[in-house]
Amino acid sequence: MKINCLSGNSSAKDSLCQIIYRIKAFFGFLFYSKTKHAAHSPFLYDFIVSVLENSQNNNSLEKCFNEKKALFQNHSQIEIFDFGTGRAKAHVYTTKVSLQAKRSLKSNREIRQVFNLVAKYKPLQIIELGTSFGITTMAMSLASKESSILSFEGCPNTAEFAKKCFQKHNINEISVVIGNIDEVLDDSLSAIETFDLAIVDANHTYQNTLDYFFMLKFLRNTKSIIIFDDIHWSKNINKAWQEIKADKDVTLTIETWNYGFVFFNSDLSKQDFIIRK
Ligand SMILES: C[S@@+](CC[C@H](N)C(=O)[O-])C[C@H]1O[C@@H](n2cnc3c(N)ncnc32)[C@H](O)[C@@H]1O
Repeated sequence: MKINCLSGNSSAKDSLCQIIYRIKAFFGFLFYSKTKHAAHSPFLYDFIVSVLENSQNNNSLEKCFNEKKALFQNHSQIEIFDFGTGRAKAHVYTTKVSLQAKRSLKSNREIRQVFNLVAKYKPLQIIELGTSFGITTMAMSLASKESSILSFEGCPNTAEFAKKCFQKHNINEISVVIGNIDEVLDDSLSAIETFDLAIVDANHTYQNTLDYFFMLKFLRNTKSIIIFDDIHWSKNINKAWQEIKADKDVTLTIETWNYGFVFFNSDLSKQDFIIRK
C-alpha cells in the first residue's frame, strides 16, 4: 500500500502519515542522540545533569503533579475553543476535563525539566505560548519567585481553570492573555523590552512555529533561552526546528525527544546537540 504523505486530504491518512513519521523520527533520534558520557562541553554536561536528569521532587513539584492528577480525575464537561491547527477561527467542541488534560499536559518528567531550568537560570521575564490548564506555568512560577510570566491561551474555559489554580496557590506573578496568539502576540510583545525564557507550546504548525520564533528573536537578549515543545511531533514541525537551528543568531541548541532548547549566547560556540533524555 502506497501512502502519499504530502498530498493526502483525509484526516485518517494524515494521522497514519504522522504515526509513520514519528516512528521513523524516533529511530533516527535513538541513532543520533548521545548521553552525558559523550558530552565534552562543560556547559552541556552541566545542563544535562542539572536540567534534564535531575529527578529530585520537592514540595513545589508535588503541588503541580497533584493539580495535574486532579484534572485527570475531573470528568466534568468543558467547552474547548481550539485554534491548534492554524485555524483563524476557533473550532469548538465539548469534552471531559480529564480527556483534555490527558491530551494537552506534559509528562511529570517534562514538567520537572522545565522546573529545573527555571530554578537554575532564574529568568526574570518568561513568555509562555499555550497556558492550557496552567500546570507548567505554575511549575515555572514556583521554581523562581522573582520570575514574572506572560502566558497566552486561546481557550477561555481552559484559561479559567489555570487562573483558579494560580489563585489557589497564591501565585500572583502570572498574567494570562486570552485570545488567538496569532492575533494578540505582536501587540502584547510590544509592551515588553526583552525576555529571558520563552516556551512555545501552542500552535504546532510549521509557519506558526517560525513566526513565533522570529517575533521572539527580535526581543532576545544574550541570555535568552527558547524552548520549543514537540519538535518531533510532525514532519512540518521538525522542518521548522531544523530552520531554527540553522538561524544565524542561534548559537547552541540542545534537542531531546520532546524539547528543542535554543540559546543565543555568543559565549557559547555554534553547536547542535541531540541528547537522549
Ligand atoms: C499542548 S497545550 C499547552 C500545554 C501547557 N503548556 C502545559 O505544559 O501544560 C497547547 C495549548 O495551546 C493553546 N493554543 C493552541 N493554538 C493556539 C492559538 N493559536 N492561540 C491561543 N492558544 C492556542 C491550546 O488551546 C492549548 O491549551
